[in-house]
This record gives sequence, C-alpha cells and structure tokens, in this order.
Amino acid sequence: MLVIAGSASSNLAQRISEELDCKLVRPDSELFPDGELYLKIPEEVEGEHAIVVQSTPRPQNDNFMELLLLLDTAKDLGAKEVTAIVPYFAYARQDKRFEPGEAISLQTMLKLIGSTGANDLLTIDVHEEKALKKAKIPAQNLQAMPLIGKWLPSLNLKRPVLLGPDQGALKYVEQASRSFEADYDYLVKKRESPTEVSMEPKSMEVGGRDVVILDDIISTGGTVTEAIKLLKEQGARKIYAGCTHAVLAEDALERIRGAGAEEVFATDTIETEISKISVAPSIVEAIAE
Ligand code: R5P
Repeated sequence: MLVIAGSASSNLAQRISEELDCKLVRPDSELFPDGELYLKIPEEVEGEHAIVVQSTPRPQNDNFMELLLLLDTAKDLGAKEVTAIVPYFAYARQDKRFEPGEAISLQTMLKLIGSTGANDLLTIDVHEEKALKKAKIPAQNLQAMPLIGKWLPSLNLKRPVLLGPDQGALKYVEQASRSFEADYDYLVKKRESPTEVSMEPKSMEVGGRDVVILDDIISTGGTVTEAIKLLKEQGARKIYAGCTHAVLAEDALERIRGAGAEEVFATDTIETEISKISVAPSIVEAIAE
C-alpha cells in the first residue's frame, strides 16, 4: 500500500501515510508553458494498493484535473487497486438539475472519477450523501463532526451549546455531540414582518453560555456571520465557529472575526490557516475496514 499526495492535500496525505505506516509518494509536477499540467508518479506502483489523496477546493478545475491524472496514471502503471480520497468534493452542491438545461456537475465528476479505473471513492461530509449513489464505483461518505467533537474540549467552554445555523446543520451538531457531550440545537429563521427576519435557537437558551456554531461548509461566511450577530443579541458569552470544509470564499474569515467570533476552526479537508483538526483518523479507519 502507498499514499500518493495530490498538491491540494499535501499535509493530510502525509498524516494518512504516517498513520497507515506506509510509503508517501509525492508526484513530480510542473506547468507546461501553455498552462497544461505535467505529472509523474516517481515510484513503483505496480501491484500496490494506491491511495490517491487530492481535495478539490479552489482552483477546483485544476485540482480536479490533477486528481483525474493521478488516478488514471496509478491505474495505468499497474496498481492492483486505486482508492480515490477526495476530502472536499467540489461541485457537490450542483447535484440535480434545478432548471432545465443545467449541468448536473456532481454526476459528471463521479462519472469521470469512475472512468479512470479507480476502484472506490471516499469523501467527507459531502453536500448530499444520497447523491453519491449515482457513482458507478463504491462511494462512501465519512463524518468529520465526531473528530471535531473530540477536539472541542481544547476550547475550555463554559456551559457549552452546539448550534447548527439552520435545520440542515442539526445533523452536524448531533454528530459532534456524540464525542462532546453538550446540549445542541439549531437556529430557526422566522419572518417577523414582510421586511423583517429574525433567527433564534429552536428551544435552547444561550444567554451567558459559550456557543459553538457548526456547519459543513463556511463559504462566504454569510450564514455564520448572521448567526453570530443574533447570538450576541441573545447574550451568548463566547461564540466559536467551526466547519468541516473551510471554503472561505472572498473575505469570509475577516467577516466572521469582525462579527465577534472568538475563534474560527476547521478540518484539513481543505488545507488552510484554520485547519486545526485532521480527518486522517476517519480516513485511516475507513481504509482499514
Ligand atoms: C448550506 O447548505 C451549507 O450547509 C452552508 O450553510 C453554506 O454553504 C454556507 O455558506 P456561506 O458561508 O456562504 O453562508
């Protein structure tokens, strides 16, 4: 078995190889003068189980092309089995045709991964798990929240509440609470008048308590920022914001910190300055199974 590190998952691939106690292969790569990607796997992969780790954050298309080249090359070089680990799966939010004529981008991504000869696919907190059923190869979605829950004690929270910023995020706080015993709830948007919308926890009092907002993705930070403002109005003590995938579009971090977040944290499905929790243990466990 060996782990092949894509450029978007350099640190995570290293952690996975250390935990699996197997060789880490760093492909040689460069850009041709016209912008095309040159890739070479500089180790023997024939007969090996090759674990290709490559996330697909921005620049999504470049990272995805690198993923396809790595999978296809590993297979073509004679790997006996190729596992695609795509910690953050780009285009997953376009998982159906919302309007006639639209591309179902996730479906196309899955088809392309399958076409490389990859034997199976692992991803983490994908936008809509059931959409993975369209994959032609076995595809498994892992959860990052139990690992985030294990990390939360390091924040030394006082009377903590885990809060999803919308009902869709309820499952994430519930998953985190399995490894971090705490109350959990989600925010409900209420229309107070034709022009006024308010947001409040469904049933939990947050006054004087430390609140951890958890979601799968922080992209523009708009959702979290709005939640922080409302929780402050309701008297929350300290407010933290965490997610699996730190997409961090535009000036998301500045916005969230500016709104008063004590700390913003994420996993390493996307390697950023706020990647404090590694998903390597979940991936290693899934590979071992
Ligand atoms: C929505 O379905 C997701 O769970 C996140 O709440 C959303 O992607 C966050 O986006 P933003 O940070 O741009 O508000």
